[in-house]
Amino acid sequence: MNIVVLLLSIFLIISFLILLISLLFAKEIKETKDKDPAAKSYLEIIIFYPGLHALIFYRIAHCLWIGRLKIIARAVSQLARFLTGIEIHPGARIGQGFFIDHGMGVVVGETSIVGNNVTIYQGVTLGGTGKETGKRHPTIGNNVVIGAGAKVLGNIEIGSNSYIGANAVVINSVPENATVVGVPGRVTRQDGKRIDTYLDHSKILDPVMQQLEELKEKIKTLEKSQ
Ligand SMILES: CC(C)(COP(=O)(O)OP(=O)(O)OC[C@H]1O[C@@H](n2cnc3c(N)ncnc32)[C@H](O)[C@@H]1OP(=O)(O)O)[C@@H](O)C(=O)NCCC(=O)NCCS
Repeated sequence: MNIVVLLLSIFLIISFLILLISLLFAKEIKETKDKDPAAKSYLEIIIFYPGLHALIFYRIAHCLWIGRLKIIARAVSQLARFLTGIEIHPGARIGQGFFIDHGMGVVVGETSIVGNNVTIYQGVTLGGTGKETGKRHPTIGNNVVIGAGAKVLGNIEIGSNSYIGANAVVINSVPENATVVGVPGRVTRQDGKRIDTYLDHSKILDPVMQQLEELKEKIKTLEKSQ
């Protein structure tokens, strides 16, 4: 009899938690369903998505951080890191609809500000350059997508509706509606129009990149002439 009561209690507690999470994180769960074709149901997202779990821990840690319980906040954040592989500093400010896909290796620094409906993939760092103090992490606009492994470093701004390509290293601010790829990150698309970095030399950030762009252009010309 006791075991039946115990199992029933566990079932009720789990059902209550699932209901609570689905009410409090309805927007994030919907964003995940809309953006990830692999997500087949809301229940699957609540049970198996580490990005959602990390966000739940972050919301608790952030409340503790604001309430000046900083050590406890850090403990919650480190527990989340242990469980999900995602480290979000409790001091970071994150908007609604934040979606972390896969998650492992994600780091969000203390003074980062993230807008609404932002998507980030595994291995993304919103970090400092190591040289700054005070506000030293990026500010990300609304509807930004940051590809797997990208590093966004320093107190820079990523404009709304921008895409940061996988593995890009972004160290300068990015305008709205832009696509940035490469190391260091360079704008390849703006307001839907492709930007040719070979022709627009103001967009070339270093001499090595310039040489590579020139070589690429020569290869394209040779291929066309064959
Ligand atoms: C950058 C990205 C958003 C595509 O943007 P896009 O404007 O559609 O880019 P295009 O496909 O037209 O490519 C434009 C140029 O950038 C290059 N490029 C695209 N993505 C790149 C990247 N991540 N790094 C370096 N170069 C890249 C293309 O080769 C192309 O070069 P070319 O002009 O010499 O031919 C996309 O490639 C990307 O990186 N998305 C991230 C997705 C991700 O992380 N998924 C993880 C799933 S688990």
